[in-house]
Amino acid sequence: MAETTALVLDQSGSENTAPSPDAAKPAQDWPPVLITRETIDLEIERLADLPRPANGRRQVQFVHPSANPDTPGLNPGVRLTMEVLLPREETTPIRHNSTQVNFCIRGRGATIVSGKQIHFNQYDVWNHPSFIPYRHVNDSDDLHVRFTYSNAPLLEMLKVHLVEENPPLGAEVTVVDAPEPTSNRGNSPYGTFPIDDDGALLMPYETLISPPSVESKALHWPWAVVQENIDKLAALGKQYIGRRLYLMYNPMTGRSNGTTPSFFATMTIRPPEIIDRPHRHVSSAINYYFRGSGYSVVEGKRYEWRAGDLMVSAPGWAVHNHASYDEPVYELTVQDQPLHIMMESLLWQESMKAPAAILGSSVGFATNRQAG
Ligand SMILES: [Fe+2]
Repeated sequence: MAETTALVLDQSGSENTAPSPDAAKPAQDWPPVLITRETIDLEIERLADLPRPANGRRQVQFVHPSANPDTPGLNPGVRLTMEVLLPREETTPIRHNSTQVNFCIRGRGATIVSGKQIHFNQYDVWNHPSFIPYRHVNDSDDLHVRFTYSNAPLLEMLKVHLVEENPPLGAEVTVVDAPEPTSNRGNSPYGTFPIDDDGALLMPYETLISPPSVESKALHWPWAVVQENIDKLAALGKQYIGRRLYLMYNPMTGRSNGTTPSFFATMTIRPPEIIDRPHRHVSSAINYYFRGSGYSVVEGKRYEWRAGDLMVSAPGWAVHNHASYDEPVYELTVQDQPLHIMMESLLWQESMKAPAAILGSSVGFATNRQAG
């Protein structure tokens, strides 16, 4: 077999072909798309009528037409799968090194993950940690439908998305007690130590292969509890310039503000006749609307939506804003923001009249309400 040889590309003095922040036209490469309630309902019916697949997974992916066929997703780094389970059906166990946000759009059921049963109802959200086997059960008399948001496309681009169907029972990632983050572990006599006054350190191999571990749990945000709390935000008057939402925060994601290490999921209430200020961010957004109706303006183009629609509502760095019509709107938003915070790539421009900032390493923005 011929040996693989790397190419050598001379780039001396070559112009950078990546667009500048102001010249980027993200919505041309990845325009918003709307998956209507009718399309979703038809797919649910079709999946429900199929003979049961061997692994129990009656599922479709909603894929953006601009997606790379090798790494299909609804946004470049986000895969959205819809799965249906008939009454009394269950899926076979699976595990993978991608992480997921799960969202029940119809019916109820249970997920068995990490030795724990999560009993979910319509509009509940829960996360799946990496490489822990799980299965879904429909223990109700009606069909249930779930959306799953996964970071699989990015792992596939990196050629390391590892999936195991029917993993051995009891297969678990071993979680050890977290050591002190700065402890000198293992056999290195020197530990981690500074080499200057600026903060540069040297770290030994023993710490490199045993970083401080944080337990990654499956957490559950029941809609009944979330709704009670976001409804209180509706009372903020029209003069409030922020967004009326709660992030379903998983504390293992630390300063990256995630529901998983890659994604956040937020629940928003939009009172009637609220029009957001135009803004943009490098993170991409997918919205699912489940009450009310309204419209979004993305890079100057208007898109109408109503309850039951799923939408790529903000391709990364596209200028956008959303507005509600004459009744309150509820929506779930999933963005790949935590990933960008950890990559130090999260350019965010909260007002088009002010400069952008890199959230997570420069000073962020404020609303006209005190932080709580
Ligand atoms: Fe946004």
